[in-house]
Amino acid sequence: MSGEEAPTQQQQPEQEKTDTADESTPAAAGAPQESGSSPSTEEKPISWRSVVLMGYGGYDKVKLQVKTQNKPQLKAGEVLVCIKACGLNFAELLARQGLYDLLPAPPVVMGMEGSGVIEAVGESVEDRKVGDRVIVFSRSGIWQELVVASANSTFPMPEQMSFEEGAALPVNYLTAYMILFDVANLRPGKSVLIHMAGGGVGIAATQLCHTVEEVIIFGTASASKHETIAQGGVTHPIDYRTKDYVEEIHKISPKGVDIVLDPLGGSDTQKGFGLLKPLGTLIVFGAANCVTGQRKNLLAMAKTWYNQLSLNTLKLMQANKAIAGFHLGHVSEELISNTMHKLLELYVQGKIKPHIDSCYHFEEVGDAMRRMHERQNIGKIILLPEPKKKDEEPKSNAEPAEEVEKNESAATEKKEDASEEVKEEKD
Ligand SMILES: NC(=O)c1ccc[n+]([C@@H]2O[C@H](COP(=O)([O-])OP(=O)(O)OC[C@H]3O[C@@H](n4cnc5c(N)ncnc54)[C@H](OP(=O)(O)O)[C@@H]3O)[C@@H](O)[C@H]2O)c1
Repeated sequence: MSGEEAPTQQQQPEQEKTDTADESTPAAAGAPQESGSSPSTEEKPISWRSVVLMGYGGYDKVKLQVKTQNKPQLKAGEVLVCIKACGLNFAELLARQGLYDLLPAPPVVMGMEGSGVIEAVGESVEDRKVGDRVIVFSRSGIWQELVVASANSTFPMPEQMSFEEGAALPVNYLTAYMILFDVANLRPGKSVLIHMAGGGVGIAATQLCHTVEEVIIFGTASASKHETIAQGGVTHPIDYRTKDYVEEIHKISPKGVDIVLDPLGGSDTQKGFGLLKPLGTLIVFGAANCVTGQRKNLLAMAKTWYNQLSLNTLKLMQANKAIAGFHLGHVSEELISNTMHKLLELYVQGKIKPHIDSCYHFEEVGDAMRRMHERQNIGKIILLPEPKKKDEEPKSNAEPAEEVEKNESAATEKKEDASEEVKEEKD
């Protein structure tokens, strides 16, 4: 049975015998390092759960492990956070396929964002204390119960914010905010095309657009998500699966749109450029078209690369259009910190609120990834470090996507598997 056909099973945690994952985890937000040189005689080893990427490929490459070590000693400026909730991002689907170069090579603890409670603070940390509820943001290493992080990469949570909301905020909202306001300079009365409008970044972008007056939003998403995204503020939901979204937009707005957010790449970047009004801006920030199923698909990657937009700057000048790129992984800590504070303020003012799609426990990480791969999520998928209780109901706000969509998607994947997919590295 191939990995694609295999049902995702709840994992039994592996007891980690070596510290391989620790060694590969960057210090910025890593697995706690054992005290080593000067262990206290009273110290007892502690155990914690973590989700580790063991190699590139399908869901089976992501393993739940239990590590046992002495309590960590913190360096100056660091805090120890007991993580309560983590965010799943599209980047982790890419990372599992070996398509996200900011994640260190496996074995590595995955996860870029989470929320929890500070358990200990290192020397010279003055603005965080034990018991503070914080959001943590890093390039990797967050999907575990205990995380050592630089105090600067933690952000105090407003009282009314749940741990799930805290974990859902950083990647989606930082990305959407910087694209809309720092790159595209969104102003009143402008029109914006948001692809993947029912996803984490899509919903964040929709809410942020509504902090500006009279912005018109065109949003592409599967039909089953239209009611929710329309309630959330998308003016014109478009089912890209059954309709040509370029035609649909032109029917409503013959001149096109002012801003296109492009997380898809390939031919969609060309379409986005064509849809721009003069003086409009296209921002490329993803290549979701490279992903078709659970494993890396070289043909889809080649198609996306082959169809990418290519033009000379003279033509760009004559077109009166702007093209920009954005990658959160390459943004400075200072800008991230400043923007996080603005976002937390918007949250307190009630202007933004993460939409939680569903919560999965660490042992169900494969199911969580499958939900995103199969395009079922509306909003954010959350991972919970605590073990699942017996007979616990699934925590999901999402209406089940129409079976027909699921079947179509599965059928497409199967066909692609047979003809196109290049099986991933052997371990
Ligand atoms: N550059 C950056 O710094 C940055 C940061 C964050 C996110 N991103 C990009 O933004 C995009 C959205 O990320 P996200 O984390 O918020 O994910 P997300 O939107 O929650 O992703 C899942 C949804 O995207 C849609 N989708 C479109 N193509 C898909 C595909 N090939 N496979 C699976 N789903 C697909 C599906 O909904 P429908 O089919 O209903 O639309 C699905 O439910 C991604 O391309 C991501 O790489 C970039």
